Amino acid sequence: MAHMAWGAWLVVALVLPVIAQNRSLELRVAKALGSKGYDKVRVSMIAQSHEDAADFPFEYREAFQYRWTENVLLSSVLTLTPGPNTLTIDGQEVVIDLPAEDRGIRGVFWADPCFSSRYVNCAFGQTFQTLERSTRMLNAAFEDDSLDLFGVLGDNFYDQSGELTQEFFSRVSLNVKRRFWLMVNGNHDNWVCGFPFCGSSSDDFGIGQMQYYPMDTVASKNDRIFSFDIDPDRNKQWNQFLNNGTNFLFYHKLGNVGFLGYTGAADFAETLPHLHAACEYFAVSQPEVIFLLGHWNNEGLGCSQGMSVPEIHSTLMQIPGCSAFGRRVKYMDGHEHCNYVQAKDEQSAYGFMIGGHGMADAMCAPQYGFAYLDTTGDRIRLYYFEVGRSGVWGIVVGAVLGVLLGALLGFWGVGTAISAMCRSRCTTSRKKRTFAACGVAGAALGGVAGYLLGMYFLNPIFPPQDRFDQIFGCAQANGLHACTHLATLWLDESTQLTRLWM
Ligand SMILES: *[C@@H]1O[C@H](CO)[C@@H](O)[C@H](O)[C@H]1NC(C)=O
Ligand SMILES: *[C@@H]1O[C@H](CO)[C@@H](O)[C@H](O)[C@H]1NC(C)=O
Repeated sequence: MAHMAWGAWLVVALVLPVIAQNRSLELRVAKALGSKGYDKVRVSMIAQSHEDAADFPFEYREAFQYRWTENVLLSSVLTLTPGPNTLTIDGQEVVIDLPAEDRGIRGVFWADPCFSSRYVNCAFGQTFQTLERSTRMLNAAFEDDSLDLFGVLGDNFYDQSGELTQEFFSRVSLNVKRRFWLMVNGNHDNWVCGFPFCGSSSDDFGIGQMQYYPMDTVASKNDRIFSFDIDPDRNKQWNQFLNNGTNFLFYHKLGNVGFLGYTGAADFAETLPHLHAACEYFAVSQPEVIFLLGHWNNEGLGCSQGMSVPEIHSTLMQIPGCSAFGRRVKYMDGHEHCNYVQAKDEQSAYGFMIGGHGMADAMCAPQYGFAYLDTTGDRIRLYYFEVGRSGVWGIVVGAVLGVLLGALLGFWGVGTAISAMCRSRCTTSRKKRTFAACGVAGAALGGVAGYLLGMYFLNPIFPPQDRFDQIFGCAQANGLHACTHLATLWLDESTQLTRLWM
């Protein structure tokens, strides 16, 4: 008996600390809305019960509303001092490093990340090993204390119920979670299938999402964080955006950079006054560069009229507080699953697409990578790290096979069947024409089917170009900032020069 008890104690003593160590504190840190003051920071935690983290005076302790309701959100807006601030939350010491105002910052951005095909086919999740590699890369990169922020620009894991999101972040270190986060809403976050007409009662409408990644938005006032006035289950218009756009609209300054985030699913007229307020804020706070962050690179698929990121950028260029910044207003988006410089003129590159993170796309060869922003040393630099890239052989093979098979099937199958139906009544030349027409139609249909088959299923089979070990190894050994020789330089401007252009 005594032996068993000792054995049990031994197990408890040895195993419990391991479990405790593994249990990642689901911490969230976001700059508060700019107008609240530079030193205001929203610190939140995703908990399992209202009593969690009783050692920290969170003002807001509420179960998630409407969606992902198994979680509890704990949150407060704190006043921090520039430099490291040590907090004790749930028995763990957490350091939140607030960069001094106007200091250069560093951060990592992705859009459209996927690893699971539970709801939507994540064609390259396996090929690029996105779950394992994106988490390992993040954890390694953020070992470097000079990284300040992490941004995810919508379609976050193509999740509906929150389980995929939780699975992903259970592998992400507290070291990443204690940095400043920027989260943006995308079409699949609202209707998991990707657009309003296929919406259903189980869809999230960004409601679980906004509580899981709590930003400090224009909806937050006094003691409330979000506007919960739209209850989707009372409304039941599943093919609409059953959320309030202000829950996603944020603007603030971190170091020398201004950020403005919004959802394209909101209505333009309702969004415009907040854009004016953001520009007024930037006119006063004078960041050295402004990044507009959104998801949709064009209208449609749930993006309202005038609400795509390039359109909102043009709108900002007509609002005095922002237009004075000229080409110092940049934007980043996703939606298209490619990574490239999306907009530039003689002066400067100003638009960047960073949606290649596991999904397939018809507009580019499969790409897997992330953007790295560095505004230190009086320069504004944006690098693109390409971790993996695949060819288009699958599409070629699929299309050729599809054309041949389609032509054969059309010619012999459908052609023979139609001719058989009019046996004696049809002339030989008419039969020949029927065979030819069916062959051509079959080839065309087969080509389209083969192209899609190639893009989504054959391409992922071909081995990708893989630079994970190289980039990961360098980031781990030297910090990401010392690995930029492995990246493509998308933007490199002097903060001084850009000022002269005004
Ligand atoms: C817990 O952490 C250890 C190493 O720190 C790791 O080997 C183990 O797989 C982790 N367990 C879980 C359940 O995450
Ligand atoms: C959305 O929230 C804002 C406050 O953040 C409020 O003024 C507005 O009336 C809300 N809109 C709807 C449709 O509930």
